[in-house]
Amino acid sequence: MARDDTKRFMAMKGAGYYSKATLGAKHVMDNAAEMVLAAVDRMAPVDGPEVFRCTDMGAADGGTSMDMWRRVLAHIRAKCPSRPIELIYTDLPRNDFSQTFQNAHGLTGEATYMKEVKGVYPLASATSFHDAILPPETLDLGFSSTASHYITAAPCTIADHVHMVGAAPDERARFEAKGAADWANMLAMRANEMKPGARLCLFNFGIDNEGRYLGNTGGVNMFDTFAALWAGLRDDGIITAEEFTNTNFPQCYRTEAQFVAPLKDETSTAHKAGLRLEHVEARVVRCPFEKDFTENGGDPADFAKTYIPTLRSWSEPTFVNGLSEDRSPEEKTQIIDSFYGRYDALVAATPEGHAMDYVHIYLICRKI
Ligand SMILES: C[S@@+](CC[C@H](N)C(=O)[O-])C[C@H]1O[C@@H](n2cnc3c(N)ncnc32)[C@H](O)[C@@H]1O
Repeated sequence: MARDDTKRFMAMKGAGYYSKATLGAKHVMDNAAEMVLAAVDRMAPVDGPEVFRCTDMGAADGGTSMDMWRRVLAHIRAKCPSRPIELIYTDLPRNDFSQTFQNAHGLTGEATYMKEVKGVYPLASATSFHDAILPPETLDLGFSSTASHYITAAPCTIADHVHMVGAAPDERARFEAKGAADWANMLAMRANEMKPGARLCLFNFGIDNEGRYLGNTGGVNMFDTFAALWAGLRDDGIITAEEFTNTNFPQCYRTEAQFVAPLKDETSTAHKAGLRLEHVEARVVRCPFEKDFTENGGDPADFAKTYIPTLRSWSEPTFVNGLSEDRSPEEKTQIIDSFYGRYDALVAATPEGHAMDYVHIYLICRKI
């Protein structure tokens, strides 16, 4: 596949669906905001007329990171009373940037830093984080959450699954190799655009030392469920065998060792450009929908009705992409609705163990 396949990827569901359904991703950032605040403290920015530039890479509609940025931007403002602050939202060209700006400017009725912190300039870029987003040495604070697992392209199809975590060893090795190359390149791109002393905060989906990853923390494995239900549509003649095989998340979940490798390797481009690891840790953030259901009880059907949209907000584009171009949009919608309908029915009938717990590897880097 072409190097820029990522640009045609459909991004998240638009019109605010993403933020509304993806409460857990917001919790990830809210809970770890102190890591960003501490990175700003270590950076010790001085006041003056120079722009303080931040990025939120792979921001989607910007709703989930809003409360974190409200805290971080206020923190920077307290240290630098007069510096103009730019916050550049980045995502893929098909992202719903209109929704991003509606969130930033408070048109959705939610709180925004624009009403709280003076001198903030929200901007946007549709350049992939696999490419250079900014001119060299112009970035003060780079940030990204729950996005770096999207690789430039799936390196091969996966015969019996939909995600590299369930792929056969040879297929998985190809995803890991692609993931390693893209990650080394992404860090090199960031190192080039950071100013000396700048910080880079990356909250990445990954695999922790206990082998846990998104939706696989001891209960029902979410990606195995996706694969089984998608295979069910194939076996029922609703999708073709080719469509099943062509459905692959263009993602790589990396281990902590894989994340830190280019930061420790003195010969890597990122290391040579001065990027250094300051902090790394893994955390699990509990699925808010499962937590509510388990702790407060309730109707399993209601649990399914809140749980399935959180899966759908980010996974739907991959299943749509797997369907044949010959199908009409209406036909595709029907198939996708019936797919998530089956997942909904499964959870409503047997809710125990279903949870999309988030597993992240948090990295803070500085440029020397
Ligand atoms: C799961 S969402 C995370 C959104 C938000 N950062 C959060 O944590 O809630 C992943 C985002 O990364 C974006 N993305 C995927 N590949 C990208 C790339 N190569 N460059 C920029 N953004 C990308 C997707 O379009 C999507 O909006």
